[in-house]
Amino acid sequence: GLDELTARFEATIAANERIEPRDWMPDGYRQTLIRQIAQHAHSEIIGMQPEANWITRAPSLLRKAILLAKVQDEAGHGLYLYAAAETLGVSRAELFELLHSRKQKYSSIFNYPTLTWADVGAIGWLVDGAAITNQVPLCRCSYGPYARAMIRICKEESFHQRQGFDILYRLSHGTPAQHEMAQDAVNRWWWPSLMMFGPPDDQSPHTAQSMAWGIKRFTNDELRQKFVDMIVPQAAVLGLTLPDPQLRWNPERGHYDFGPIDWSEFYRVIGGGGPCNEQRLRHRIEAYTAGAWVREAAAAYAAKHGQRTAA
Ligand code: 3HC
Repeated sequence: GLDELTARFEATIAANERIEPRDWMPDGYRQTLIRQIAQHAHSEIIGMQPEANWITRAPSLLRKAILLAKVQDEAGHGLYLYAAAETLGVSRAELFELLHSRKQKYSSIFNYPTLTWADVGAIGWLVDGAAITNQVPLCRCSYGPYARAMIRICKEESFHQRQGFDILYRLSHGTPAQHEMAQDAVNRWWWPSLMMFGPPDDQSPHTAQSMAWGIKRFTNDELRQKFVDMIVPQAAVLGLTLPDPQLRWNPERGHYDFGPIDWSEFYRVIGGGGPCNEQRLRHRIEAYTAGAWVREAAAAYAAKHGQRTAA
């Protein structure tokens, strides 16, 4: 009966073992995973836009090739994650509809503009750095398909962060104008990167339950702190400062203390009021509509050749 199924589910979670698609799971667990995995996938796809803006403007062929590879990786990460979400009984078309109708979110960070080439460095170093901090624990998520998607994604993310660091390092140690461009980008991307980890734990409606289900292995504030502790020494190597006068090592805590985050900006951005929200969703919907013929052709081809139709 239900008690037996629930007991088995809870024993699997308690033993830090994996729940697989065919296992029974509480509906709340299923819905939480659909919500988080879908929004993670949406973030990867929308996240291609800010960087794509610089593919044709990259300062060298090498930088163009690296950026092109990174943006292609993001598309692939989106596909792995949509595939993981489909194991929970939703279709990709349903998830796109939820994104396009603003019923599902994507990461707040992608609603900011990429004003200079240094932004590509700041995104790689800070945004992909934050993504790695958030995604490594997800490799141990209790839901099998999500954890396995994360393992592959994390391998590719480390290249993303390194190329961002390298861009900033060259600029910071270049001409004064280049140093200033790198510092300006870091000033604009620092606080929005801290917001990527979600609201403070005491304002997070989902963290406690997601921790109990082994979906989250650390809370939002714990991961945010991990990220700050990792980045501060790297900023020193870059020769760049972080725009927080209250940032300082706290020997009692063994962590860096940092200043208050403007959560009103966070809620405004995730509510649709960020600098680029309209543009990002409009561009996504236009691309999806313009690409309909490719999906139809692929489905017609699959039908003619008796293969499973493309999702
Ligand atoms: N942007 C947008 N929405 C956010 C957010 C953010 N940075 N942080 C929190 N939210 C939303 C949550 O989705 C939730 O809204 P919902 O109920 O409508 O989904 C609400 O704010 C409350 O936040 P909670 O912390 O209670 O919600 P979660 O437990 O879902 O935690 C999370 C939020 C930490 C983002 C978690 O969902 C998570 O770890 N997701 C997987 C990681 C992810 O999505 N990363 C995207 C980063 S970008 C990326 O990975 C691309 C990289 O290659 C650059």
